[in-house]
Amino acid sequence: MTVFPKDFLWGGATAANQCEGAYNKGGKGLSVQDVLPGGIFGPITDGPTKDNLKLDAIDFYHRYEEDIKLLAEMGFKVFRMSIAWTRIFPTGEEELPNEEGLAFYDRVFDTCRKYKIEPLVTLSHYESPLYLSKAYDGWRSRKLIDLFAKYAKTVFRRYKDSVKYWVTFNEINVTSHIPLLGGGVLTPRDQLTKQDMYQAAHHQLVASGLVTKIGKDINPEFKIGCMVASAPRYPMTCHPDDVTYAMEEQQELTLFVHVHAKGEYPYYTKRLFEQEDITLEITEEDKQHLKHTVDFISFSYYNSKTVAKDPSKYELAQGNLYRGLRNPYLEYSEWNYPIDPQGLRYILNFYYERYELPMFVSENGMGAIDHPIEENGTLTVDDNYRIDFHKSHLIEVGKAIQDGVDVFGYTSWGCIDLISAASAQMEKRYGFVYVDRDKDGNGTMNRYPKKSFYWYKDVISTNGQSL
Ligand code: BG6
Repeated sequence: MTVFPKDFLWGGATAANQCEGAYNKGGKGLSVQDVLPGGIFGPITDGPTKDNLKLDAIDFYHRYEEDIKLLAEMGFKVFRMSIAWTRIFPTGEEELPNEEGLAFYDRVFDTCRKYKIEPLVTLSHYESPLYLSKAYDGWRSRKLIDLFAKYAKTVFRRYKDSVKYWVTFNEINVTSHIPLLGGGVLTPRDQLTKQDMYQAAHHQLVASGLVTKIGKDINPEFKIGCMVASAPRYPMTCHPDDVTYAMEEQQELTLFVHVHAKGEYPYYTKRLFEQEDITLEITEEDKQHLKHTVDFISFSYYNSKTVAKDPSKYELAQGNLYRGLRNPYLEYSEWNYPIDPQGLRYILNFYYERYELPMFVSENGMGAIDHPIEENGTLTVDDNYRIDFHKSHLIEVGKAIQDGVDVFGYTSWGCIDLISAASAQMEKRYGFVYVDRDKDGNGTMNRYPKKSFYWYKDVISTNGQSL
């Protein structure tokens, strides 16, 4: 017997800047990603440089039909993808949208429809227009709220009959820690105060509420959600100092879900902002926009994060975007990320017991180096490690459903190999489909199903019973 609801949305996730390529085709303008060849920790180049693998990425722009067909072969019910803002408004400030960009996504959504795959579209996935970063320091400026609303209104209108599920900002909480990635802020992080970063994040929260309202006015049937990077905080020990420290860090993360779910900042914001010496500029109009709450909560889950009041006594580990302490009870991936399937059940329950909104796992996966082998005249990858990862995590999603959490979908991150976000590299692969492109950018870009491709297909066709 399967525990997954019969219309559970099984699928995978991508982002425009990590898969489309064609960075200067079809009238597209530059995004911050086009000048970050080494990934999020810089350097920022003057313009696009050959060593930036994202410029061509995996060429989804030209190969989307083949790619969506492969996803359909796995039985995908949903495909999470993002629209590149700069394909629609190349600088962000044009009066009129770029028709060629709009037409590209028409074709993508038509292809999804042909295979009965529901698109779930992120409006902003780490791809702010470079022009707005240079002119206004990205989301530090309030100007971006209206510019983003114009962009959102344009795509909501255009795709009102072809897209039902929307997510406003990918991992919106990242702006308060990595403002270049999350908010297109070009000022180096060490020259920014906490106040600067939270103000930029606040502008995005306001924009998220505003466009939720705009979307609902255009099509009341839209389902619009938030997306928050969610590494649940574990205390390193049961010492009350560590437990309360973990609680405080957790609140910093939950704050972003809370604003989306409840329409206002939570009670603990006062303490948090006092502690960090933050006084946000929040206008009456902002407060009105924040009131437009979401239909569902989506989040990325890669790992838990273990913390201590005094971390100096402990060994550090890595983690997707955030570094935590090494948890002695967990195994670690090639990138030194903790592997913690139970953390996924934990965070699903954590959010659901607070907000009781439908939940969607919009990213989950493990970056690994694949070693393709030749089999029956074609390439494949024997990626049991990937199967183990997803299987153990999906079992925990099943348990959360049995706990009573309303989980309506799961999209594995990078269902087809793409360029990594943090380090802009190709070797860190997440996909069920192998893309023949190496670390220097060489290769045919041809696609090959990995062993996990057939495994996931089986999971989907049995609605999770085969897990
Ligand atoms: C998430 C991002 O933080 O992690 C994705 O939303 C990203 O864009 C994913 O690709 C995995 O991180 P990385 O750095 O391994 O690509």
